[in-house]
Amino acid sequence: MNYQELFHTLRYTQDLPDEGLAALLACLDTGVQEELHACAREVTQERFGKEVYLRGLVEWSNVCRNDCLYCGIRKSNLSLARYSLGADEVLRCADAVYGAGIRTVVIQGGENPAGALGLVPVVAEIRRRWPEMAITLSLGELPFGTYKALREAGADRYLLRHETATSAHYARLHPAGMSLEHRLACLDELRRLGFQVGMGMMAGSPYQSLEHLLADIRLIQRFGPEMIGIGPFVPQKDTPLGTFPAGDPALTLKLYSILRLMLPDSLIPSTTALATVLPDGCKKGILAGANVIMPNFTPAQVSGSYNLYNHKSRQELDTIKKDLASIGYAASASRGDYHKN
Ligand code: 5AD
Repeated sequence: MNYQELFHTLRYTQDLPDEGLAALLACLDTGVQEELHACAREVTQERFGKEVYLRGLVEWSNVCRNDCLYCGIRKSNLSLARYSLGADEVLRCADAVYGAGIRTVVIQGGENPAGALGLVPVVAEIRRRWPEMAITLSLGELPFGTYKALREAGADRYLLRHETATSAHYARLHPAGMSLEHRLACLDELRRLGFQVGMGMMAGSPYQSLEHLLADIRLIQRFGPEMIGIGPFVPQKDTPLGTFPAGDPALTLKLYSILRLMLPDSLIPSTTALATVLPDGCKKGILAGANVIMPNFTPAQVSGSYNLYNHKSRQELDTIKKDLASIGYAASASRGDYHKN
C-alpha cells in the first residue's frame, strides 16, 4: 500500500494492520507527515468545526508518594519544594477558570491518597458553586473508595495515562511495586464509576520501541477512552532518566493524527510537553488533529514547583487565544464533553 491508501483505509475503516501503523509511525518524510496531519485535521473539523475546547489547569499539589523514574515530582527528588493548595486557593482558581469563560476545570496533582480524599469536599463545593462546569481530576492511582467519593462529589472526568502498554517497558519506567496491571484496573474502575476516562503515554520515552507504541495504540483502540493524552518525553535533570534525549515532536504529532483517525470522536489535547519542545507546538498539535488545550491557572507562586520536566512551559490563556486565531480557530464556549457521533 502507498501512503495515500494507508490514510484512506485508516480514515474510512478506523483501523490499519500493524505494518501500516508501523510505516506511518516510522515515516520521516515531512511531506507525507503533512498529508497525514491534513487528513486528521479534516476529520477533526467534520466533527468539531474549527473550535477547540479549553480546560483550565490547576496543579493543586506536587506532593507524590510515587517514584516514577522519568518524573520531576517523584518522591526521591529532594531538591523540590513541596506544596499543596488549600481548599480556598483551589476555589479561587476555579473561579478564575469560570471567569475566563472556560467550562472545564482540571485538578491535577501528584499521587497522594490522603490529599485526594481531602479534595472530596472541594469538588463538592465546585459542583455547588458552578453547576455547569465540568470537573476533571488527574490524581494518579487511588483507592477505589476515593475514586467513588470523588465521583459522587461531582467529578465528571479522570485522566490517568497508562504510560506504556507493555509490562516489561512499564517496569523500566517505574519503581518495583507499580504495575501496568494495577494501572489498567484503575482505568476499568474509573470507567465503571461513570467517569469520562483519559489514557495515554509519552512519545519517545526511554527504552520505547515501535512495538511498544503499536501496543499502546492497540490498547487505546480496545479501551476506547474518551480522552487521549500524549506528549513527548522531556528529560528532567533530577531524575534517573534525566540524561535520555527528549521524545521526537514529529512522532507526537503523528500519534495525534493516527489516533484522531482511529477514534474520531475522542478529545485529544495539544499538550504542554509538546509546546515545551517544539516552537509553535500548541498550534501544530491542533493542525495535526488535537482539539483540546489546557491553559494554566495554577497560582504563579507555586507553578514553578510543578516541574514534571525541564523548562516546562506555561500555557497562558492569552497566548493560546492568539495562537488559535492565527490559524483560523477559536476557543469553544462549551464544556466539551465526549459525544459519540
Ligand atoms: N516528560 C514528559 N511527560 C512527563 N510526565 C511525567 N514526567 C514527564 C516527563 N519527564 C507525564 C506523565 C504523567 C503526566 C502527569 O505527566 O505521562 O502521566
